Amino acid sequence: MKILILYNSGAGSTKTIAEIYHEKLSSYNIDITPLQLNFNYKRLEDYNFIIFAFPTYHCDPSRSMLEFIEKMPVFKDRKRAFVFTTYGLFPGNALTRFIKECSSRNIITCGYTQYKSPATDGALLLPPLGFMFHYEKNIVHKLRKDINNVKEIIETDVDKIKYPRFKLYTILNYPNKLGGKAMKHKLKIIKENCVKCYKCVDNCIRHCWTNNGEYPQFDVYNCEFCFRCIHHCPKKAIIISDKTKNKPRLSEQFYDELKKSIIDQL
Ligand SMILES: Cc1cc2nc3c(=O)[nH]c(=O)nc-3n(C[C@H](O)[C@H](O)[C@H](O)COP(=O)(O)O)c2cc1C
Ligand code: SF4
Ligand code: SF4
Repeated sequence: MKILILYNSGAGSTKTIAEIYHEKLSSYNIDITPLQLNFNYKRLEDYNFIIFAFPTYHCDPSRSMLEFIEKMPVFKDRKRAFVFTTYGLFPGNALTRFIKECSSRNIITCGYTQYKSPATDGALLLPPLGFMFHYEKNIVHKLRKDINNVKEIIETDVDKIKYPRFKLYTILNYPNKLGGKAMKHKLKIIKENCVKCYKCVDNCIRHCWTNNGEYPQFDVYNCEFCFRCIHHCPKKAIIISDKTKNKPRLSEQFYDELKKSIIDQL
Protein backbone atom coordinates (compact mmCIF):
# COMPACT_ATOMS: atom_id res chain seq x y z
CA MET A 1 0.00 0.00 0.00
CA LYS A 2 1.49 3.33 -1.12
CA ILE A 3 -0.05 6.49 0.26
CA LEU A 4 0.27 10.10 -0.86
CA ILE A 5 -0.72 13.25 1.01
CA LEU A 6 -1.37 15.89 -1.64
CA TYR A 7 -2.09 19.28 -0.14
CA ASN A 8 -2.70 22.82 -1.24
CA SER A 9 -2.13 25.59 1.29
CA GLY A 10 -1.91 29.36 1.28
CA ALA A 11 -0.41 30.79 4.46
CA GLY A 12 0.00 27.37 6.12
CA SER A 13 -3.14 26.25 8.03
CA THR A 14 -3.60 23.24 5.73
CA LYS A 15 0.10 22.48 5.31
CA THR A 16 0.52 22.31 9.09
CA ILE A 17 -2.23 19.69 9.50
CA ALA A 18 -1.03 17.77 6.41
CA GLU A 19 2.48 17.56 7.90
CA ILE A 20 1.05 16.32 11.21
CA TYR A 21 -0.81 13.55 9.31
CA HIS A 22 2.44 12.69 7.55
CA GLU A 23 4.35 12.42 10.80
CA LYS A 24 1.64 10.40 12.55
CA LEU A 25 1.20 7.99 9.61
CA SER A 26 4.93 7.48 9.14
CA SER A 27 4.70 3.73 9.86
CA TYR A 28 3.13 3.43 6.37
CA ASN A 29 4.81 3.84 3.00
CA ILE A 30 3.69 7.47 2.74
CA ASP A 31 4.82 10.54 0.75
CA ILE A 32 3.71 14.14 1.06
CA THR A 33 3.74 16.79 -1.63
CA PRO A 34 2.36 20.29 -2.14
CA LEU A 35 0.16 20.84 -5.17
CA GLN A 36 1.86 22.50 -8.15
CA LEU A 37 -0.02 24.14 -11.00
CA ASN A 38 1.48 21.86 -13.67
CA PHE A 39 1.05 18.72 -11.53
CA ASN A 40 1.83 15.55 -13.46
CA TYR A 41 -1.21 13.31 -12.98
CA LYS A 42 0.87 10.26 -13.89
CA ARG A 43 2.55 10.59 -10.50
CA LEU A 44 -0.72 9.56 -8.86
CA GLU A 45 -0.59 6.18 -10.62
CA ASP A 46 2.07 5.11 -8.10
CA TYR A 47 -0.32 5.40 -5.15
CA ASN A 48 -3.25 3.26 -3.98
CA PHE A 49 -4.53 5.71 -1.40
CA ILE A 50 -4.51 9.52 -1.52
CA ILE A 51 -5.15 12.00 1.26
CA PHE A 52 -6.26 15.30 -0.32
CA ALA A 53 -6.06 18.44 1.79
CA PHE A 54 -7.03 21.99 0.84
CA PRO A 55 -8.29 25.23 2.37
CA THR A 56 -11.86 26.44 1.94
CA TYR A 57 -11.98 29.75 0.09
CA HIS A 58 -15.41 31.34 -0.44
CA CYS A 59 -17.18 28.16 0.69
CA ASP A 60 -15.47 26.15 -2.07
CA PRO A 61 -12.18 24.26 -2.37
CA SER A 62 -9.29 26.65 -3.12
CA ARG A 63 -9.12 27.58 -6.80
CA SER A 64 -5.82 25.70 -7.24
CA MET A 65 -7.34 22.49 -5.85
CA LEU A 66 -10.54 22.88 -7.87
CA GLU A 67 -8.63 23.44 -11.11
CA PHE A 68 -6.45 20.45 -10.30
CA ILE A 69 -9.38 18.07 -9.73
CA GLU A 70 -11.40 19.44 -12.66
CA LYS A 71 -8.53 18.76 -15.08
CA MET A 72 -7.78 15.35 -13.62
CA PRO A 73 -8.24 12.41 -16.03
CA VAL A 74 -10.50 9.50 -15.05
CA PHE A 75 -8.43 6.73 -13.47
CA LYS A 76 -8.74 3.30 -15.05
CA ASP A 77 -8.16 1.58 -11.71
CA ARG A 78 -10.27 2.78 -8.82
CA LYS A 79 -8.36 4.70 -6.14
CA ARG A 80 -9.37 5.28 -2.56
CA ALA A 81 -9.04 8.60 -0.77
CA PHE A 82 -9.51 10.54 2.43
CA VAL A 83 -10.21 14.28 2.17
CA PHE A 84 -9.94 17.17 4.60
CA THR A 85 -10.32 20.92 4.43
CA THR A 86 -9.35 23.74 6.77
CA TYR A 87 -11.63 26.73 7.23
CA GLY A 88 -11.94 29.91 9.26
CA LEU A 89 -15.63 30.14 10.07
CA PHE A 90 -18.06 28.47 7.60
CA PRO A 91 -16.78 25.75 5.27
CA GLY A 92 -20.03 25.56 3.28
CA ASN A 93 -20.16 22.59 0.91
CA ALA A 94 -16.49 22.68 -0.09
CA LEU A 95 -15.92 19.04 0.86
CA THR A 96 -19.02 17.81 -0.97
CA ARG A 97 -18.00 19.60 -4.16
CA PHE A 98 -14.53 18.08 -4.05
CA ILE A 99 -15.74 14.57 -3.17
CA LYS A 100 -18.19 14.63 -6.12
CA GLU A 101 -15.40 15.67 -8.51
CA CYS A 102 -13.27 12.83 -7.13
CA SER A 103 -15.98 10.24 -7.67
CA SER A 104 -16.34 11.22 -11.33
CA ARG A 105 -12.57 10.51 -11.69
CA ASN A 106 -12.96 7.01 -10.18
CA ILE A 107 -11.60 8.14 -6.82
CA ILE A 108 -13.67 6.86 -3.92
CA THR A 109 -13.59 9.11 -0.86
CA CYS A 110 -13.95 6.75 2.09
CA GLY A 111 -13.68 9.41 4.77
CA TYR A 112 -13.47 13.16 5.26
CA THR A 113 -13.04 15.75 7.95
CA GLN A 114 -12.56 19.48 8.45
CA TYR A 115 -10.62 21.67 10.87
CA LYS A 116 -11.44 25.15 12.04
CA SER A 117 -8.09 26.86 11.59
CA PRO A 118 -6.32 30.22 11.76
CA ALA A 119 -8.29 32.54 9.47
CA THR A 120 -5.75 33.78 6.97
CA ASP A 121 -8.21 36.22 5.39
CA GLY A 122 -9.71 37.44 8.67
CA ALA A 123 -6.28 38.18 10.16
CA LEU A 124 -5.70 40.71 7.37
CA LEU A 125 -9.20 42.03 6.70
CA LEU A 126 -11.04 42.03 10.06
CA PRO A 127 -10.38 43.41 13.54
CA PRO A 128 -8.19 40.89 15.42
CA LEU A 129 -10.26 38.26 17.26
CA GLY A 130 -8.75 35.34 19.18
CA PHE A 131 -10.27 32.58 17.04
CA MET A 132 -8.45 33.82 13.96
CA PHE A 133 -5.09 32.74 15.36
CA HIS A 134 -5.78 29.21 16.61
CA TYR A 135 -7.01 25.84 15.48
CA GLU A 136 -10.28 24.70 17.06
CA LYS A 137 -10.20 24.02 20.80
CA ASN A 138 -10.26 20.22 20.58
CA ILE A 139 -7.79 19.98 17.71
CA VAL A 140 -5.54 17.43 19.44
CA HIS A 141 -8.41 15.10 20.32
CA LYS A 142 -9.93 15.48 16.84
CA LEU A 143 -6.65 14.79 15.07
CA ARG A 144 -6.08 11.68 17.17
CA LYS A 145 -9.56 10.41 16.27
CA ASP A 146 -9.28 11.30 12.58
CA ILE A 147 -5.83 9.77 12.15
CA ASN A 148 -7.05 6.53 13.78
CA ASN A 149 -10.03 6.63 11.40
CA VAL A 150 -7.67 7.00 8.41
CA LYS A 151 -5.65 4.00 9.63
CA GLU A 152 -8.81 1.93 9.95
CA ILE A 153 -9.94 2.90 6.44
CA ILE A 154 -6.54 2.02 4.99
CA GLU A 155 -6.36 -1.32 6.76
CA THR A 156 -9.95 -2.54 6.34
CA ASP A 157 -10.20 -1.78 2.63
CA VAL A 158 -13.42 0.28 3.05
CA ASP A 159 -14.53 1.55 -0.39
CA LYS A 160 -17.90 3.27 0.09
CA ILE A 161 -18.19 6.97 -0.82
CA LYS A 162 -19.02 9.24 2.10
CA TYR A 163 -20.48 12.73 1.73
CA PRO A 164 -21.05 15.40 4.37
CA ARG A 165 -24.61 16.64 4.84
CA PHE A 166 -25.68 19.59 2.63
CA LYS A 167 -25.33 22.88 4.59
CA LEU A 168 -28.47 24.96 4.16
CA TYR A 169 -26.82 28.21 5.25
CA THR A 170 -24.80 28.19 2.04
CA ILE A 171 -27.94 29.27 0.15
CA LEU A 172 -28.20 32.42 2.30
CA ASN A 173 -24.46 32.96 1.96
CA TYR A 174 -24.55 32.77 -1.85
CA PRO A 175 -24.38 36.55 -2.58
CA ASN A 176 -21.51 36.85 -0.11
CA LYS A 177 -19.68 33.94 -1.77
CA LEU A 178 -20.08 35.42 -5.26
CA GLY A 179 -19.01 38.86 -4.02
CA GLY A 180 -15.92 37.38 -2.35
CA LYS A 181 -14.95 35.42 -5.46
CA ALA A 182 -15.34 38.48 -7.69
CA MET A 183 -13.13 40.66 -5.46
CA LYS A 184 -9.79 41.45 -7.10
CA HIS A 185 -7.33 42.87 -4.58
CA LYS A 186 -4.47 44.91 -5.99
CA LEU A 187 -1.58 43.67 -3.87
CA LYS A 188 1.10 46.35 -3.45
CA ILE A 189 4.68 46.52 -2.26
CA ILE A 190 5.94 49.07 0.24
CA LYS A 191 9.19 49.69 -1.58
CA GLU A 192 11.12 51.07 1.38
CA ASN A 193 10.45 47.81 3.30
CA CYS A 194 11.25 45.39 0.50
CA VAL A 195 14.71 43.79 0.68
CA LYS A 196 14.36 42.09 -2.74
CA CYS A 197 14.67 38.57 -1.33
CA TYR A 198 12.15 37.40 -4.00
CA LYS A 199 10.54 34.97 -1.61
CA CYS A 200 7.18 36.22 -2.91
CA VAL A 201 8.21 35.25 -6.46
CA ASP A 202 9.44 31.78 -5.44
CA ASN A 203 6.53 31.05 -3.10
CA CYS A 204 3.54 31.81 -5.32
CA ILE A 205 2.48 28.60 -7.04
CA ARG A 206 0.25 30.64 -9.37
CA HIS A 207 3.21 32.71 -10.61
CA CYS A 208 1.57 36.07 -9.88
CA TRP A 209 4.82 37.72 -8.75
CA THR A 210 7.71 38.18 -11.19
CA ASN A 211 11.11 39.77 -10.83
CA ASN A 212 10.99 41.71 -14.10
CA GLY A 213 11.27 45.17 -12.59
CA GLU A 214 13.26 47.01 -9.94
CA TYR A 215 10.88 45.43 -7.36
CA PRO A 216 8.69 42.32 -7.65
CA GLN A 217 5.75 42.94 -9.99
CA PHE A 218 2.24 41.66 -9.25
CA ASP A 219 -0.14 40.36 -11.92
CA VAL A 220 -3.65 39.87 -10.55
CA TYR A 221 -4.88 37.59 -13.37
CA ASN A 222 -4.05 34.20 -11.86
CA CYS A 223 -4.18 35.23 -8.18
CA GLU A 224 -6.50 33.26 -5.88
CA PHE A 225 -5.85 35.61 -2.94
CA CYS A 226 -4.54 32.90 -0.67
CA PHE A 227 -2.48 35.71 0.97
CA ARG A 228 0.57 33.51 1.38
CA CYS A 229 2.82 36.20 -0.09
CA ILE A 230 1.49 38.77 2.39
CA HIS A 231 1.79 36.53 5.46
CA HIS A 232 5.25 35.20 4.58
CA CYS A 233 7.05 38.33 3.36
CA PRO A 234 9.86 38.67 5.93
CA LYS A 235 9.57 42.46 5.94
CA LYS A 236 5.75 42.83 5.87
CA ALA A 237 6.31 44.68 2.61
CA ILE A 238 3.25 43.32 0.77
CA ILE A 239 -0.11 44.86 1.57
CA ILE A 240 -3.69 44.81 0.31
CA SER A 241 -4.16 48.50 1.08
CA ASP A 242 -2.67 51.12 3.39
CA LYS A 243 -5.36 50.27 5.96
CA THR A 244 -4.13 46.69 6.26
CA LYS A 245 -0.41 47.32 6.47
CA ASN A 246 -0.19 46.89 10.26
CA LYS A 247 -2.32 43.76 10.41
CA PRO A 248 -0.75 40.66 12.04
CA ARG A 249 0.98 38.20 9.74
CA LEU A 250 0.71 34.41 10.03
CA SER A 251 4.37 33.71 9.32
CA GLU A 252 6.14 30.38 8.86
CA GLN A 253 7.38 30.72 12.44
CA PHE A 254 3.78 31.18 13.64
CA TYR A 255 2.80 27.86 11.98
CA ASP A 256 5.99 26.06 13.12
CA GLU A 257 5.13 26.93 16.71
CA LEU A 258 1.50 25.82 16.33
CA LYS A 259 2.62 22.54 14.78
CA LYS A 260 5.14 21.86 17.52
CA SER A 261 2.61 22.52 20.25
CA ILE A 262 0.05 20.16 18.63
CA ILE A 263 2.59 17.39 17.98
CA ASP A 264 3.85 17.62 21.58
CA GLN A 265 0.30 16.91 22.80
CA LEU A 266 -0.58 14.16 20.30
C1 LIG B 1 -9.58 34.14 -0.07
C2 LIG B 1 -10.03 33.43 1.17
C3 LIG B 1 -11.35 33.06 1.29
C4 LIG B 1 -11.76 32.37 2.43
N1 LIG B 1 -13.07 31.96 2.50
C5 LIG B 1 -13.48 31.25 3.57
C6 LIG B 1 -14.82 30.77 3.64
O1 LIG B 1 -15.62 30.94 2.74
N2 LIG B 1 -15.19 30.10 4.76
C7 LIG B 1 -14.31 29.88 5.77
O2 LIG B 1 -14.70 29.26 6.76
N3 LIG B 1 -13.03 30.31 5.73
C8 LIG B 1 -12.60 30.98 4.65
N4 LIG B 1 -11.31 31.41 4.58
C9 LIG B 1 -10.37 31.08 5.66
C10 LIG B 1 -9.53 29.86 5.30
O3 LIG B 1 -10.35 28.78 4.89
C11 LIG B 1 -8.71 29.36 6.48
O4 LIG B 1 -7.99 30.38 7.04
C12 LIG B 1 -7.79 28.21 6.02
O5 LIG B 1 -7.39 27.49 7.14
C13 LIG B 1 -6.58 28.73 5.28
O6 LIG B 1 -5.74 27.66 4.97
P1 LIG B 1 -4.32 27.85 4.24
O7 LIG B 1 -3.46 28.64 5.19
O8 LIG B 1 -3.83 26.47 4.07
O9 LIG B 1 -4.61 28.57 2.97
C14 LIG B 1 -10.85 32.10 3.48
C15 LIG B 1 -9.52 32.49 3.34
C16 LIG B 1 -9.10 33.16 2.21
C17 LIG B 1 -7.66 33.55 2.10
S1 SF4 C 1 9.08 38.70 -0.06
FE1 SF4 C 1 8.77 40.80 0.64
S2 SF4 C 1 10.82 41.58 0.99
FE2 SF4 C 1 11.04 39.74 -0.27
S3 SF4 C 1 11.01 40.54 -2.39
FE3 SF4 C 1 8.91 40.00 -1.88
S4 SF4 C 1 8.03 41.91 -1.12
FE4 SF4 C 1 10.23 42.17 -1.09
S1 SF4 D 1 0.07 36.42 -5.43
FE1 SF4 D 1 -2.00 35.67 -5.04
S2 SF4 D 1 -1.92 33.47 -5.38
FE2 SF4 D 1 0.19 34.19 -5.22
S3 SF4 D 1 0.76 33.90 -3.05
FE3 SF4 D 1 0.00 36.00 -3.25
S4 SF4 D 1 -2.17 35.90 -2.80
FE4 SF4 D 1 -1.49 33.78 -3.21
